Amino acid sequence: MPDRYDVVIIGAGPGGYVAAIRAAQLGFKTACVESRGSLGGTCLNIGCIPSKALLQSSEKFAEAGRDLAEHGVKVGEVALDLGSMMGRKDKVVTTLTRGVEFLFRKNKVDWLKGKGRIAAPGRVVVTGADGASQEIEATSIIIASGSESTPLPGIEIDEKRIVSSTGCLALDRVPERLVVIGGGYIGLELGSVWQRLGAKVTVVEVLDHIVPNMDRELGTALQRVLARSGMEFKLGTKVAGIGEAPERLTLELEGAERQSLTAEVVLVAIGRRPYTAGLGLEAVGVALDEHGRITVDDGFATNIPGIYAIGDVIRGPMLEHKAAEEGVALAERLAGQKTSVDYDAIPAVIYTWPEVASVGKTEEELKAAAVSYRVGKFPFTANPRARTNGYTEGFVKILAESGTDRVLGVHIIGPDAGTLIAEAVLAKEFGASAEDIARTCHAHPTLSEALKEAALAVDGRAIHI
Ligand code: FAD
Ligand code: NAI
Repeated sequence: MPDRYDVVIIGAGPGGYVAAIRAAQLGFKTACVESRGSLGGTCLNIGCIPSKALLQSSEKFAEAGRDLAEHGVKVGEVALDLGSMMGRKDKVVTTLTRGVEFLFRKNKVDWLKGKGRIAAPGRVVVTGADGASQEIEATSIIIASGSESTPLPGIEIDEKRIVSSTGCLALDRVPERLVVIGGGYIGLELGSVWQRLGAKVTVVEVLDHIVPNMDRELGTALQRVLARSGMEFKLGTKVAGIGEAPERLTLELEGAERQSLTAEVVLVAIGRRPYTAGLGLEAVGVALDEHGRITVDDGFATNIPGIYAIGDVIRGPMLEHKAAEEGVALAERLAGQKTSVDYDAIPAVIYTWPEVASVGKTEEELKAAAVSYRVGKFPFTANPRARTNGYTEGFVKILAESGTDRVLGVHIIGPDAGTLIAEAVLAKEFGASAEDIARTCHAHPTLSEALKEAALAVDGRAIHI
């Protein structure tokens, strides 16, 4: 007799492992199928966590060599021990992936090790690394198989010299020259890491602006700061091909003019695509959209009864917290609750220096939808805490609906923007007005006062500018 579960989840990334824990909390007999040797998916193993560990370490390195003297702190010669930096990153990853194993044991979620394939509705075959397979039965199957790097046609990733984010998180030395293809999240975060460690970084972006999904003003401001720190940008430019010689790579660029560029390492970061290989979707008849994403309704149900999907493999931003929210919402819906995800209140953060963070509508989206709005802006140069900290780059921008004053979008570039955005997300979740934020008492001196001031600025009454 095959083992029988109430819920079987394929993939133990943030969508899958969170859904598994919540399903188990709700009393479902739950299993999670994962083929990787550790839990946590892209995010914990090769994504959010290792990249943020390296961003943190490289920022410390850059700070020690740059900013500390201004604070009256004298350090000796600053030297890089890349092996230790990578070792620390790996340790952080292991601690967190083991933490998910602990949570599975605590909540009695079975980790079925191997590759999951849906044989039929209600039936999943799990094939282990040794080739042995077992069939299990499930009332509900959740696909949370995530995403993979989008390849650039004609360019082969070897993860040594031409790398995806995965190889770029594990380089064994600082490249003299790194060319990044794609001026989005990965390109700018990992480009920043290696630039801080000493690489000369050039970003090649096909559009005429970076971070295309964010409010345009943020992208422009971020590009200005990164360019000032030495990062080069080639916008409106495509890579036509890469020539490989033993000592260097030569990129042929097509833009306003044809030119070539040499590099020791090339990072391809032009987006990610849903990962559905080997799931058996075609045989079962699960529908995909034109981007290869699994089609789901508002309750995450596919077109086949009893089969659901969440996270990077469905529509919406490919973000950890979006996948996790969907995991919780789906588990609760399976238990008869009416939980849903508010897609208009999902923050997005780029962890460069300065950080960039957004929630809600951009100014471009409001213009395109002919929504009437007011703008309140406040620069960190006028925020006392930013002054004491010595980081005054950036601003807070609040977009509020004319007439109702409802907050439609908040966009921040500046120190700790990723933490500051939480207040804006809460405001959006509660349907707050700019006046609500303006009337809320903010502790002094904190960076969050810039949000209050931007909210006051919506009504033309900021105090400190
Ligand atoms: P994944 O995390 O991709 O997990 C899917 C899992 O399913 C994988 O472990 C895979 O092995 C497994 N799997 C697939 N098919 C099968 C199968 N047939 N059988 C068994 N197992 C299978 N997001 C943020 O919000 N913040 C960040 O700072 C951030 N940084 C990132 C940095 C990088 C370099 C990258 C690449 C991504 C980053 N992301 C970040 C995005 C984030 O990692 C993803 O949005 C998130 O991991 C999606 O979760 P998921 O559960 O949908 O899929
Ligand atoms: P992205 O979508 O953020 O950026 C890709 C960039 O490449 C875009 O600017 C696009 O215009 C450009 N591009 C596309 N084709 C190109 C070409 N042929 N030549 C040059 N440029 C080209 O994708 P990225 O950076 O690969 O990241 C993938 C996803 O992973 C992100 O969209 C995000 O969802 C997630 N992520 C999130 C992070 C965070 O939350 N901090 C960090 C890293 C990744």
